[in-house]
Amino acid sequence: EKGTYPHFMLKEIDEQPFAMRKIIQEYQDDNDEIKLEEDVRQAMANSDRVYIIAAGTSYHAGLIGKEFLEKIAQVPTEVHIASEFSYNMPLLSEKPLFVFISQSGETADLRSVLVETNRLGHPALTMTNVPGSTLSRESDYTLHLHAGPEIAVASTKAYTAQMAVLAILAVDTARAKGLTLDFDPLKELGIVGNAMEALCDQKEEFDQIARDYLSTTRNCFFIGRGLDYFVGLEGALKLKEISYIQAEGFAGGELKHGTIALIEDGTPVIALATQEHVDGSIRSNVQEVVARGANACIISPEHLTREGDAFSIPTVHPLLAPLVSVLPMQLISYYAALHRDCDVDKPRNLAKSVTVE
Ligand code: M6R
Repeated sequence: EKGTYPHFMLKEIDEQPFAMRKIIQEYQDDNDEIKLEEDVRQAMANSDRVYIIAAGTSYHAGLIGKEFLEKIAQVPTEVHIASEFSYNMPLLSEKPLFVFISQSGETADLRSVLVETNRLGHPALTMTNVPGSTLSRESDYTLHLHAGPEIAVASTKAYTAQMAVLAILAVDTARAKGLTLDFDPLKELGIVGNAMEALCDQKEEFDQIARDYLSTTRNCFFIGRGLDYFVGLEGALKLKEISYIQAEGFAGGELKHGTIALIEDGTPVIALATQEHVDGSIRSNVQEVVARGANACIISPEHLTREGDAFSIPTVHPLLAPLVSVLPMQLISYYAALHRDCDVDKPRNLAKSVTVE
């Protein structure tokens, strides 16, 4: 039920802080440490490489998950678009573990990969919001996202839940390997939940950004470097699927290799600048587009915010910044769609769960 909300999407955006708390609670033991089922832990320990398989928004969560698994747990990880993997299976390592990320657990493109990896006898773990789903039933292991039912076609709370559970998996694997961590993951996810709440309380500002940057535009670009690049991909997908504005997310450094040709007077460019080590370079990319007339909107965390930035988000652990910086993307897309009288919860031509290949 939508309750007092005009749309499920807005309700689900607002539910993200609760989902974070629920995930922390579900994955926490009595000593406030991460609790994962022993067989999942074993599956990670027994594999030499993780192959993440997903589609759409879940694929974008997978891109972030690869960073978590490699940076936190030193597990070599590949991320593949499910529909491509079916035709183009890469050379596999000796002991692969397949991780299927799917909100619905019913996506046909993923299922056809799972049927094949099951036939080959490789272990499979599904991360899903629907534990009784097809992918969950047909996999060896399941990690529950605990985001609660997601009704709007545009995925929001499932995406942040996917990233949170991927971070938990990475931290647990790191611990099992005896690696030392310089942060307390569950505490950091708690800080993320609070940051999400603060952003949900500032909706008018995102409404205004959508008015200022997107009310009449035909197109929009999202740029970022590192983790911010992946959040930009998700920002672009969110905007195009519900507002029908043509949107593209790309790595800041790629601008000069082609896309900058599209920048003209007034072109909106949303830049994510949450990662300190690339702050200088992403800001010089912004200068390059502004010099060509772009209407640039910089989103940065409090500790990196400079005069002229459009919005300052709360600072969280830099690896977890995508869980927070995507909220402005979701809310800006929501208001852009609203201003254009689009059917926010049920965009044209799309289905919530894509059960055909
Ligand atoms: O249920 P899944 O996570 O497997 O769905 C994958 C995509 O179809 C889904 O994320 C889609 O891209 C969303 N509409 C994006 O908001």
